[in-house]
Amino acid sequence: MTDAADAQASLEFMLKDEIVRMYQEVADNPSGEFHFFHGREAAELFGYAPEWLDRAPAGAVASFAGVGNPHERSNLQPGERVLDLGSGAGLDAIIASWRVGSAGSVVGVDLNPAMCLKAQAHVAATGAKMECHEGRMEDIPLPDASVDVIISNGVMNLSFRKRRVVEQMFRVLRPGGRISITDIVSAKQLSQSIVNDPKLWAS
Ligand SMILES: C[S@@+](CC[C@H](N)C(=O)[O-])C[C@H]1O[C@@H](n2cnc3c(N)ncnc32)[C@H](O)[C@@H]1O
Repeated sequence: MTDAADAQASLEFMLKDEIVRMYQEVADNPSGEFHFFHGREAAELFGYAPEWLDRAPAGAVASFAGVGNPHERSNLQPGERVLDLGSGAGLDAIIASWRVGSAGSVVGVDLNPAMCLKAQAHVAATGAKMECHEGRMEDIPLPDASVDVIISNGVMNLSFRKRRVVEQMFRVLRPGGRISITDIVSAKQLSQSIVNDPKLWAS
């Protein structure tokens, strides 16, 4: 490995720990202090319908940590199979499961197995089912051409290997499939001190 590749691998390793710690904290202690919008306040700000937020389990709403509303353009249809990449505590997966109905299905992928268990419990509390796989968006643990739609909310910005994530998304999408993601982009080149700070990457 070159020095640069070594440095990236060690930063990526630290980043993974910080991501697991931070989103676990939002899920376990949603009333704590965070420097990003989360919970119902964030979901309302991003235009989630109040009926959805009233109907979803309180824990999934309180731990919501997205950055926008991927449901606005996902145009989910009954019967579709949806992948929620970085499914977190499960609010987006729940909404997707309502929209695709019992003839459809939702599969989550999350780096943190504890988040997968939380999301599955939240979805089960609504009477629906969700499969969730521990895994990374850079190596999505699903077969080729196996989903109709991918949604994701505030997750791709966390990756050092965004091109790889996009390649993986196209691998698992069926021909004619759709992607609806909301994420953070910066129009400015970020300073090296930001890029090298796992806490800032993670949030
Ligand atoms: C912003 S939250 C997702 C919000 C979620 N959709 C919701 O409804 O609250 C970020 C989630 O992405 C997961 N994550 C971060 N990096 C990941 C990666 N490389 N692969 C898969 N999941 C990842 C985190 O563990 C965390 O649970």
